[in-house]
Amino acid sequence: MEIIIKPTAQELALVAAEAICEVYADNPAAVLGVATGSSPLPIYQELSRRVKSGSLSLSRAQAFQLDEYVGLSQDHPEAYHNFIRREFADITDIDPNAVYGEDGLAADLLAECQRYEQAIVDAGGIDIQILGIGADGHIAFNEPGTSLKSLTHPAVLTAQTRSDNARFFDGDIDKVPRHALTQGVGTILRARKILLIATGSNKADAVRDMVEGPVSISCTGSALQLHNNVKVLLDEAAAAKLERLDFYREIYANRPQGAWLGL
Ligand code: F6R
Repeated sequence: MEIIIKPTAQELALVAAEAICEVYADNPAAVLGVATGSSPLPIYQELSRRVKSGSLSLSRAQAFQLDEYVGLSQDHPEAYHNFIRREFADITDIDPNAVYGEDGLAADLLAECQRYEQAIVDAGGIDIQILGIGADGHIAFNEPGTSLKSLTHPAVLTAQTRSDNARFFDGDIDKVPRHALTQGVGTILRARKILLIATGSNKADAVRDMVEGPVSISCTGSALQLHNNVKVLLDEAAAAKLERLDFYREIYANRPQGAWLGL
């Protein structure tokens, strides 16, 4: 993992946008993996700025969501397809019909998960995946205990995740769905490049476990240690509990310019 620490989320978004622009410079039809939640918002805003200034075009891109709540009505503002449309698709030039997500209202949820996994494969796989991390170490909705080889599957959300996400549902945990459809850890590990962004002190434990802990189902983010093209973008608060902080800063300061280190 390449650990990149910057003072602000905006500076982290610049690093992420730069990495995404490199992918699209090589392949304008690349497949982007998009996450919901608050962490990636500065990245979408930076992508939007670049699209508006003409330095990036996503007009030939496809995008796949990580996850979707089960059971929210089609027009619910917190349904993840609406979140991604509002926060990402509407502010860039991506074709809204090329943005895909799991159908959380499907009659057969297992079949829907298999269909979605296959759709990602059929699109050629994800070229660059944006991720956040939950306070319990989850990536997408792969809660602690999920197989590190899991593919897209229905997930039961933990009390911690529902309480964390209550802020999007009028602060009322009872309004947060109990289930979601999510790309599995194995699905995420198939992405060619991964950008994980985490900010704030409430992520510090999860970040330490992800980067330095054992690879374990107790922190599904730790599976990213098994991927060789991950940039972990952190502010100081999220990085604060890393034991080898000075070492990561030194590597970053001396890295070959623009390289994905394959660490
Ligand atoms: C979002 C997702 C989640 C979030 C995580 C962090 O699609 O799958 O894993 O990335 O819960 O959420 P925020 O960024 O809101 O703290």
